[in-house]
Amino acid sequence: MWTFLGRGSWPTGLRGEGVGFCPVHQLEISDLITVVDPHSGHRLPVRRAEVIQQLRESGDERAARIVAELPTDRDGVLDPHAVDRLLISVHTELQRLSEELRIGERLVHLLGPLFTAIRETTGQPGPYRLVDVGCGLGYLVRRLATTKALGTDVELVGVDLDAALVGEADRLARAEGLSCRFVRGNAFDLPEAATVYVSTGVLHHFRGPALAEFFQAQAASPAHAFCHFDIAATRLAPIGAWIFHRARMRNPLGRHDGVVSARRAHSDETLLRAAAVPGIRALLYEPRGAANPFCTTLRPIIGVRPRLEAPFRQALGRDAHRMVGPEHLAGSIR
Ligand SMILES: C[S@@+](CC[C@H](N)C(=O)[O-])C[C@H]1O[C@@H](n2cnc3c(N)ncnc32)[C@H](O)[C@@H]1O
Repeated sequence: MWTFLGRGSWPTGLRGEGVGFCPVHQLEISDLITVVDPHSGHRLPVRRAEVIQQLRESGDERAARIVAELPTDRDGVLDPHAVDRLLISVHTELQRLSEELRIGERLVHLLGPLFTAIRETTGQPGPYRLVDVGCGLGYLVRRLATTKALGTDVELVGVDLDAALVGEADRLARAEGLSCRFVRGNAFDLPEAATVYVSTGVLHHFRGPALAEFFQAQAASPAHAFCHFDIAATRLAPIGAWIFHRARMRNPLGRHDGVVSARRAHSDETLLRAAAVPGIRALLYEPRGAANPFCTTLRPIIGVRPRLEAPFRQALGRDAHRMVGPEHLAGSIR
């Protein structure tokens, strides 16, 4: 749903680039109503009329009407507190979707064997560090902390550019006394290296060259692996997203952006091609054709250091056959 503001060696393709690549009706409102300075991390004022104009120019009158309802000050600048409250409420609804789609369990199904392979291969005692890029309200990290599913030698860190979301994630974790932490900022500017990067619902925001840059930067870091879940680009995805968001989300902005996200989802081919960067073995779990399109809503693109692939497959057991590399997809990928 949001804009990516990278810094340093990280993808800079962010706001302008992402939006520039989007055809008609592919602008997410939440990308437009929060803007953060990529260097200072400070929130920038957003003029409602400009957002409305941008949405109208893209032909999305419905989105323009949703934004027209948002409160502004006397100069027409969107009220940042109202925007924060709105986005927290939309993300709370998103958390419910993640629960229903069992994203936490599905992540653990892969990350458990992945950390087993890392422990075996590196021979290092830990601690290891999992970083959730664009953690939003931190559902995934909080769930991992509650269940301790990855073991006590894995430190759990959620990072998001959005101060309000990170603040709420932190508040919720403290209320439950969870052993995890949340940081506001660019996930790739952390002082400590991640062992594994993960994310949910983030990849489709990276458009054009920014997608490959996202993976290249992880390959250039000391991380051993990444596992990024995003909407599977099936023909059913946009209608499925419409039905699901209609049934499960109350907020018009959440409903709107949920459907646009599905339209912007990257194909299996695009993800495998972009993630196949030097130093990384790209693997797609449950590619199109190998999975039931009625059930596969989000599926991950995984990247591992090449020496990890065999132990990872072994730890995954029978399910390893659900995971394919670029060479397995029909002709188009090299
Ligand atoms: C659609 S939200 C997903 C939130 C959460 N993962 C979920 O599933 O509910 C995408 C989030 O990614 C954050 N984000 C984008 N690029 C980031 C980066 N480089 N570092 C940290 N957060 C980032 C945005 O601020 C936004 O909150």
